Amino acid sequence: VLKRTPLIAGNWKMNLDHLQAIAFVQKLAWSLEDAKHSFDDVEVAVFPPFTDLRSVQTLVAADKLGLAYGGQDISEYDSGAYTGEISGQFLAQLDTKFVIIGHSERRTLHGETDEVVAAKTKAAVKHGIVPIICVGETADDLEKHGQSAVPVAQLTAAIEGLKAGVDIVVAYEPVWAIGSGQAATPEQAETVGAALRAVLAEKLGADTAAATRILYGGSVKSGNIAGFMREPNVDGALVGGASLDVTEFAAIVRYQK
Ligand code: G3P
Repeated sequence: VLKRTPLIAGNWKMNLDHLQAIAFVQKLAWSLEDAKHSFDDVEVAVFPPFTDLRSVQTLVAADKLGLAYGGQDISEYDSGAYTGEISGQFLAQLDTKFVIIGHSERRTLHGETDEVVAAKTKAAVKHGIVPIICVGETADDLEKHGQSAVPVAQLTAAIEGLKAGVDIVVAYEPVWAIGSGQAATPEQAETVGAALRAVLAEKLGADTAAATRILYGGSVKSGNIAGFMREPNVDGALVGGASLDVTEFAAIVRYQK
């Protein structure tokens, strides 16, 4: 049986400047090492604002921290006259392992369509960065179409044109659960997780589907993480608010212990 290493990812959103980022990463590394947490059985990643990435890279490299990091967005373009955009090449040069793509806040507040999400996913793969493709239904979608339909359609569109063997992560984040304090139930996360894995199997083949991590996101905290992680089609979490508190985030990382 193929084992997927759980991934606990902290999406800082527009919080923590580069000085706060340094303090945070140092404290997090201390806190995890202090507990003799082995990084072998879980991967931990933080997603700071772009202006923090260079500082985080320097710290992680200097102290050889067992932490990965990523961007919160990526340009679909490589370079040129795209004011305000950040290319995959720039992210790759900072040893950025992951990038969040199509977060619901970008879809809703910045008008990102499924086509843009697909283009950004391709850009990440091209530059050797693992895309974390976010999908999820709104409360309205849930009422009208049930839980899995919208996430399934969003994932199908996002992975269009990708080939078997591609290294991607999928994050299921019901929009109604984000920042609301009202997380989905583990059963709901499992139902959608299984539906998303079926899409991966159909489009990318059984092996790629079996190797791909599917995260749950939306009001995850130390008190509810274990329930999600018991589900076979939940391989980790994308954490927002609770990732901004070192103690709380470290407790989420150590859910198994
Ligand atoms: O990307 C993570 C996020 O949208 C979930 O946020 O604050 O509900 O954990 P939060």
